[in-house]
Amino acid sequence: MVIKMPCTVIAGAFWGDEGKGKIISYLALKDKLDVCIRTGSVNAAHTVWLEGKRYALHMVPAAFVYEKCRLLIGAGANVHVAKFLEEVEATNVKKRIGIDKQASIIEEKHSIQDKTSAHLKELGTTGWGIGPAIEERVRRTAKLAKDVPELQPYLVEVSTEVNKAIDTGKKVVLEGTQGLMLSLFHGTYPYVTGRDTSASAICSEVGVGPTKVDNVLIVFKAFITRVGAGPLPGELTREEAVKRGWFETAAGTGRDRRSAPFNFELAKKAVIVNGATQAALTKLDVLYPECKGARKYNELSKEAKQFISKIEKQTGIPVVLIGTGPEALDIIDKRE
Ligand code: IMP
Ligand code: MG
Repeated sequence: MVIKMPCTVIAGAFWGDEGKGKIISYLALKDKLDVCIRTGSVNAAHTVWLEGKRYALHMVPAAFVYEKCRLLIGAGANVHVAKFLEEVEATNVKKRIGIDKQASIIEEKHSIQDKTSAHLKELGTTGWGIGPAIEERVRRTAKLAKDVPELQPYLVEVSTEVNKAIDTGKKVVLEGTQGLMLSLFHGTYPYVTGRDTSASAICSEVGVGPTKVDNVLIVFKAFITRVGAGPLPGELTREEAVKRGWFETAAGTGRDRRSAPFNFELAKKAVIVNGATQAALTKLDVLYPECKGARKYNELSKEAKQFISKIEKQTGIPVVLIGTGPEALDIIDKRE
């Protein structure tokens, strides 16, 4: 089975941290992606492991690992200037990255407002200032990328560039951030982020119409994690999470991640609301250690295969990419 290119949206199913960074970095290398557009903002960290080196990317698209891929940040995104410049340097992508001139800017004042708001603190936000920055944009007083001298070399009109790429048959990935359960519209309100995180919203932030999308790839993790406050069905104690090897800390903020078993009902909802056509499943090796490093489906244990079949049966879509380790290439690719 082949993921129908040219245009694929990558969306998270749960509360973020499903491993979208890993999946996108794999697709970039394997499919030789032409263009990857990041959405959202600096609150989301996408982890990419390449040749033993770990990158936690807050701004640069995860497809940077393929050196011919054009990298863009959409008009709906909120750009943190210092973080952007720092990551452009660290990943050496200055010559191939662009920002939409109308992307808005997230500033230090927004972070201060975020951290000093009792309400936002109670929700357990990341403290980067997402809510306040979006409020300012909605008030139409936000600073835009085109207003910032350091960003001048990077400014483009992303929607124009991306639609042209799609129309000429280029391989394009729209990089969603976070997951459906953190969506302002569809998640566990008020314990959500400041934007819709669904596939439609990802398209909207980039400026790509729904008829241009061929494939929506939803990313599941083999167990669920969440940082910050709010409901988490089936939540384990920290001790139990440590015992099972599921305990994680956040790539962005270093906070403890709460954890729970995979939830088929939530997975179904995520597939429906995102209009997902295919799924990726990450960290299978954490649930089934005997599968670590497997790169062929037949190398998986019977239990692991049964788990995957159950996901496919319950959600009605095929699991085409299966993560079995942290490196970009630790993947079973069932599209072949
Ligand atoms: P905010 O997005 O910083 O306003 O935080 C709102 C909620 O979303 C909090 O529960 C955060 O922990 C969560 N959140 C925001 N971004 C991410 C992410 O990238 N991964 C996981 N949780 C996130
Ligand atoms: Mg993350």
